[in-house]
Formats: sequence, C-alpha cells, structure tokens
Amino acid sequence: MTHFVLGIESSCDETSVAIVSSDKKILGHIILSQTYHADYGGVVPEIAARAHMDHLDRLILEVLLQSGLKFSDLSAIAATCGPGLIGGVIVGAMMGKAIAYAHQLPFIAVNHLEGHALSVRLTEDVPFPYMLLLMSGGHTQFLLVEDIGHYTVYGTTLDDAIGEAFDKTAKILGLPYPGGMYIEQYALSGNPRAFNFPRPLKGNGDCNFSFSGLKTAIKYKIDALGILNEQTKADLCASFQQAALDVLIDRTKNACHKLSAQNIKANAFVVAGGVAANLALKTGLSKLVSSFGLPFVAPPKEFCTDNGAMIAYAGLERFQRGYIDSLTFKPRPRWPLAELKNMNVVGLT
Ligand code: KG4
Ligand code: ZN
Repeated sequence: MTHFVLGIESSCDETSVAIVSSDKKILGHIILSQTYHADYGGVVPEIAARAHMDHLDRLILEVLLQSGLKFSDLSAIAATCGPGLIGGVIVGAMMGKAIAYAHQLPFIAVNHLEGHALSVRLTEDVPFPYMLLLMSGGHTQFLLVEDIGHYTVYGTTLDDAIGEAFDKTAKILGLPYPGGMYIEQYALSGNPRAFNFPRPLKGNGDCNFSFSGLKTAIKYKIDALGILNEQTKADLCASFQQAALDVLIDRTKNACHKLSAQNIKANAFVVAGGVAANLALKTGLSKLVSSFGLPFVAPPKEFCTDNGAMIAYAGLERFQRGYIDSLTFKPRPRWPLAELKNMNVVGLT
C-alpha cells in the first residue's frame, strides 16, 4: 500500500508544505520564501511567525490540489516541531496537529535537523550509516547518521553557524539578505588569495568549528579599506569563501580520520543545509572525501535549503517505523538531535 505524508515547515523564514509518497514521489510542494526580512538584514521572528500564519492554510490546500489527494487519502501529518524560531514553529505545529485531530490522522513531530539529515534519502539511495555535514544559517555540525533518530555529533560550531558567517559578511559588504548566494556569485570573479583571512581552529585535532573570528577579521579589513569597488568586493568574497572552505576541509579531514579510527564504514559523506547549495564548497569537499574513498553526495539545491519535502519525508520514514507522536507534543525552540534517541513515541495502534 502506498502511503502519503503531508509535511509542514515553518521554523525560520520559509513557509513550505509538501506531500511525499512511500515510493518517494513528491506529489505537491510549495516553498514560499519570506522576502520581508531583507530590509532588516536578518529574520525578524515576529514578522516570520505572522507571515507563516497568513499563508500556511492556503499553501496546504494548494499542495493538496497539486497532488490530486484529499485529506482522507493521507496517512499522516508531519510538522517541524523544533528547533527554530518558536513563533513560527508553533504556527506550523499547531496547524499540523489541528489537521491530524480533525481528520483522525497520526501526527509526527519532526525535528528540523532530522529533516535535513534524512533529506538526501528522498532523492538518492544512501543507506545508513553515513556522515553528514549540516551547514545552514543556524547550524554547522558533523553528524554520523546511524538510523532514524540515531545521530552522533562529531563536531559542532562553538559560535556562529557557517551560514551566519556568509550572511554577516554579505551584510558588511552591502549585499542583500540572505547573502550566501551573492558571496558565491561575487567570488566567481574574485581572487581567493587577495586577502589572507584567518582559518579558525585549523590544525586543531577535533571536528568543531568557529566562525566569529573570521567574520570579525573581514569587518576590520572592510573598515580599513573604506569605499570598495566591485573588484575589491569580489576579491573579499573569494578570499572569505576560500577561508571558509579551508576550514571545512581541515575539519572534514578530522571527521574522516575519526571514522577510520573508530572502524566505522560510512556509506557516504553527505552535505545538507542551505550552504550546501554552494558549488565551490561542494567541489572542494568532494575532492577531499574521495581521497578517503567515501562517495560524496549532495541533495539537489531545492532540498538543501529549508523545504517541506524534507519534513514530509522524515515524517514518512518515522511513520513507516510506527513512530507516532502525541498531540500534546510541545514545540521546542531548542531540540538537540541527541535527544531523539530517548524520544517517547506513541506508536501505531
Ligand atoms: O538551511 P537553510 O535554508 O536555513 C536554515 O535552516 O538556516 O540555510 C540558509 C543559509 C543562509 O545563511 C544562506 O545565506 C545560506 O544558507 N546559503 C548559502 C548559499 N545559498 C544559501 N551560503 C553559501 N552559498 C550559497 N550558494
Ligand atoms: Zn534548515
């Protein structure tokens, strides 16, 4: 029997809904990116939550129309229940619960990070275990993805997330928000060796990250340079991106060594999260992990940034295991993946 799961994502500035089937077809998918935040140079939580509220019900009906399904054809409702900006998370979670209650469907509380971690399996055949480098606006982590709900953190950022470093650098350069893709574009015509920015934690034996020093060094450099012409901007972007890549490569080397030291045979090295849309970073990382004999896998760009399909898919994987949540599940602003191991699930009756 084919199952259909509707997924809702509203943890940051994308309002997104999708329906995914157990034969891995996406029957409907809409991602509405909130553009209002550009004027503020960052996501304003209150505005984001209200915008999710304004659009979510319409998007759900549109996705149902796209799929040709009715609520009664669905097998379960999945919604991001954290971590994220709590106002938006509450909007999506409550909407998901209301639909589940009204249509007597199982409800699945999806951890947004698990959504990113599993998204690759929607489009590629990647068996567990695999190493995941999650690079987004809120997170930078190495995760060994052992199974649904089973993650081991190999390293994480000690301060800013990598996406934050891209966005803050873009902001200082006067580029639009979110700035990651603009940095990548500018970097194409810049010299990556024009400026020698720091490579925080490079050479250190663990798998952690630190990006706040890099961002500060760039701010000082830009302040010292004064008015910037287009070529200098391109050189700054290319040099920043190169510093970020060097750090990623150094840390990834450690993560791969750690896998070998622990005798873990990972099936792939996977990247996910919005920053994984960056081609220069993907190319550099792919070269490195191939030297360790690991296949490099990156989901298509639209599944790297926040999207409802990854939430529907994570919900589907949980549903297929019988992992169902109670309608009393409380949305969580913070929800480390490690806590999923002990999660209380209701189970299918
Ligand atoms: O995963 P995501 O959509 O949202 C979070 O969960 O944070 O990631 C958004 C981040 C932003 O910081 C954005 O600037 C960054 O992903 N990003 C990029 C690129 N496209 C998006 N960073 C670098 N290069 C890109 N091409
Ligand atoms: Zn995300």
